[in-house]
Amino acid sequence: MFMGKLDSKVAIITGGSGGIGGAAAILFASEGGRIVLVDLDSDAMESIVADIGADQAMSVVANVSDAAETQAYVAAAVERFGGVDIALLNAGIEGVISPISEYTEEMFDKVISVNVRGVFLGLKYIMPAMGKRGGGSIVITSSTAGIRATRGMSAYITSKHAVIGLMRTAALEGAESNIRVNTVNPAPIDTRMMTSIEEQWGLPAGDRSNRPLAQRLPLQRYGEPDEVARLMLFLGSSDSSFCTGGVYMVDGGVSAGQV
Ligand SMILES: NC(=O)c1ccc[n+]([C@@H]2O[C@H](COP(=O)([O-])OP(=O)(O)OC[C@H]3O[C@@H](n4cnc5c(N)ncnc54)[C@H](O)[C@@H]3O)[C@@H](O)[C@H]2O)c1
Repeated sequence: MFMGKLDSKVAIITGGSGGIGGAAAILFASEGGRIVLVDLDSDAMESIVADIGADQAMSVVANVSDAAETQAYVAAAVERFGGVDIALLNAGIEGVISPISEYTEEMFDKVISVNVRGVFLGLKYIMPAMGKRGGGSIVITSSTAGIRATRGMSAYITSKHAVIGLMRTAALEGAESNIRVNTVNPAPIDTRMMTSIEEQWGLPAGDRSNRPLAQRLPLQRYGEPDEVARLMLFLGSSDSSFCTGGVYMVDGGVSAGQV
């Protein structure tokens, strides 16, 4: 019988119908995990559930910045699969490209609400459920935007720095319950979010052969969602049993410097 890295482990994935979340769902399922997708978009989630198989995956429509909806998605996972072992707190929005003096307060609050409050609420309600299972692993999707800045993305940059603070606090608080908490920090990954950022910068949209931003990366290309998902699998599984409180780059060399 095939034994995967995640056999019988229950994994909640927020932003589960997006590029990175969807790739993680497919990979985690292929390793035997039970998958609970959480996102705003029911149709996109259902198509991933159908690909995996309804016996092994389910979806919950929820806004991660809402406390009651967060409690509801955790409760749904516990009810259907018996508990929570892994959580990828991955839902996020990019906001707009605009200098601070022109960045609207409404957009700033919106980005912080999804990207920071959403992660805080996920930790707040998932950690007690994980404690009841004797521990678990939480992976928060930060970014290279969590360790350095670019102009024009103040809310996003702030949010991705902030979740590293949440991660470190949760790693210390979760340690005695055997709950590990880490961030993954991708640089440009080929998803809807990156296309949106390119468009807002006025770069050629949708032309995958001409992506000027890619030339600034040491590896000279964008990453694929699956390349992030594989780091999430390492951190989510017992392969990383001594890893907690860490910031894990998956960035094609961006954090090393510009070429
Ligand atoms: N693509 C990149 O280059 C890149 C780089 C670094 C970090 N990230 C981070 O990776 C994560 C996943 O992004 P992606 O690239 O897959 O983009 P994506 O837009 O494909 O996926 C993001 C998902 O989050 C969901 N979401 C947004 N707001 C939500 C809310 N309030 N409640 C529930 N779900 C919500 C969206 O519906 C979407 O499915 C994000 O946190 C993003 O900031 C992406």
